[in-house]
Amino acid sequence: MSATSLAATVSAPEGSVEWLVDQIRRLREERRAVILAHNYQLPEVQDVADFVGDSLGLAQAAARTDADVIVFCGVHFMAETAAVLCPDKTVLLPDLEAGCSLAATITADQLRAWKREHPGAVVVAYVNTTAEVKAESDLCCTSTNAVRVVESIPEDREILFVPDFFLGSYVARVTGRRLHLWMGECHVHAGFTPEDVTGLLGTYPDAELLIHPECGCVTSCMVFLTTGDLPRDRTHIVSTEGMVRRARTSRASTFVVATETGILHRMRKEAPGKTFVAVREDAVCQYMKRITLDKVYRSLRDGVFEVRVDPEVASRARTAIERMLALS
Ligand code: 13P
Ligand code: SF4
Repeated sequence: MSATSLAATVSAPEGSVEWLVDQIRRLREERRAVILAHNYQLPEVQDVADFVGDSLGLAQAAARTDADVIVFCGVHFMAETAAVLCPDKTVLLPDLEAGCSLAATITADQLRAWKREHPGAVVVAYVNTTAEVKAESDLCCTSTNAVRVVESIPEDREILFVPDFFLGSYVARVTGRRLHLWMGECHVHAGFTPEDVTGLLGTYPDAELLIHPECGCVTSCMVFLTTGDLPRDRTHIVSTEGMVRRARTSRASTFVVATETGILHRMRKEAPGKTFVAVREDAVCQYMKRITLDKVYRSLRDGVFEVRVDPEVASRARTAIERMLALS
């Protein structure tokens, strides 16, 4: 029997990982779809995606794709951002329950009320917000560009920063600007304590330390950098994409990583031979993990679940997102 006829007769059992991957690839072609996945997605979902990245990279990838369909393997606000940027495309989220505890900490009504207390203030919304909240904002930002976005605002303007308190505190410290901060937090990142970090550096004294600015320990860690309790040359407060970049380019061989553990898959893949240690093994975002290969397959097969944004809301949200993209 020739190799070709053998391949034709031996196919992966229906429902197996190999079968799902084959079906996803076939449907992706048929539907002219692109699969975008966040760095916290399950390893097998990352591996089948066309592009894996952080919130900024995913928004940029959505904005430039010429595919007809975007299957967004991430959480709802990310799919909404893609829908806002690509009103003529079909954006699918394989599970509508993939929400975000941080985005849920502020509604458009709450933001409108806060703006009334600070007339004339510039509103900066972290990308982890609903499209309705972005529509009430002047500028959007991600963890990659939050500092640059705030620095672009004239010094004499009052700034409201929503919704992440820890990222906002970090940006205020780096820029020296006084920001009004919303008291929102991500339930996964808020749990990181300074002791979690310093304890592990004791175990791995030569490691590079990578901290996501949403972490609850970020303010203390910034103080530790000034007191010398953390090594200035080996500590980096960066987005998830910044972490992958450090893993690839740094001369360090061990990295202590303070963020959701899904990031470790890409770091290990792109920097084989190096050691990556999670500061907290239990830092797992159950919303991100709702997206499975099986759901990606069903999403492509049945065209579910389409994420749409009201055109008037989308148009105002787009202005805030595009201002950010222009600065990135
Ligand atoms: P990044 O943009 O750094 O990937 O962060 C997104 C996020 O949801 C962090 O929890
Ligand atoms: Fe939202 Fe936190 Fe999950 Fe990121 S890790 S998607 S901020 S709940």
